[in-house]
Amino acid sequence: MKFFLDTANLKEIQEAVELGVLDGVTTNPSLMAKEGIKGTDAVMSHYKQICEIVDGDVSAEVIATDFEGMIREGEALAELHPNIVVKVPMIKEGVKAIRYFSDKGIKTNCTLIFSAGQALLAAKAGATYVSPFVGRLDDIGHDGLQLVQQIVDIFSNYGYPTQVLAASVRHVPHLLQCAELGADVVTCPLSVITGLLNHPLTDKGLATFLADHQKANS
Ligand code: G3P
Repeated sequence: MKFFLDTANLKEIQEAVELGVLDGVTTNPSLMAKEGIKGTDAVMSHYKQICEIVDGDVSAEVIATDFEGMIREGEALAELHPNIVVKVPMIKEGVKAIRYFSDKGIKTNCTLIFSAGQALLAAKAGATYVSPFVGRLDDIGHDGLQLVQQIVDIFSNYGYPTQVLAASVRHVPHLLQCAELGADVVTCPLSVITGLLNHPLTDKGLATFLADHQKANS
């Protein structure tokens, strides 16, 4: 299973790289805005910096919602670095854009997936990744993990190469359940990845080991 960090924060990306478990990064316009990155030049330069920190796929989202605009933006993004994945929203024009990028060998991540039908359509268009939003479905009383399961099953039935990238993963149980369901990738905040470290018995056991060592050696 691949771990992607869902952030545009360079410090957090660096920290996850240093932990040695990071496979890529996903961003979106909200996350870029959160870091105060505005204007095309700043946005492009920020994506380049992310690509220089992490050795793995980096999703960069188009802002345009028309086919020509998405192609223009996506091609400019793809030229920035070989690891850029063009993130395209699940809309009709987006499906056409995914087909266009796929035919040109440009990787894509179809975002804002909230149904299995949308995921199937994106896979048919040749998306590299589909991003079902687990937490946002849970937020409205649906079962986000059930959607991940459905998509994993459908892709496996037909051997689609499109990878299931579980997004909007908010906490450790989400991540672990995605792993059980066979999602190819999870993207989440750094706190969810570091949350995997925690167990009170580990802390207690280590404290005892160190105390016993101290006693024996004093
Ligand atoms: O990758 C999509 C993700 O950023 C959405 O997460 O927590 O805003 O629903 P969230």
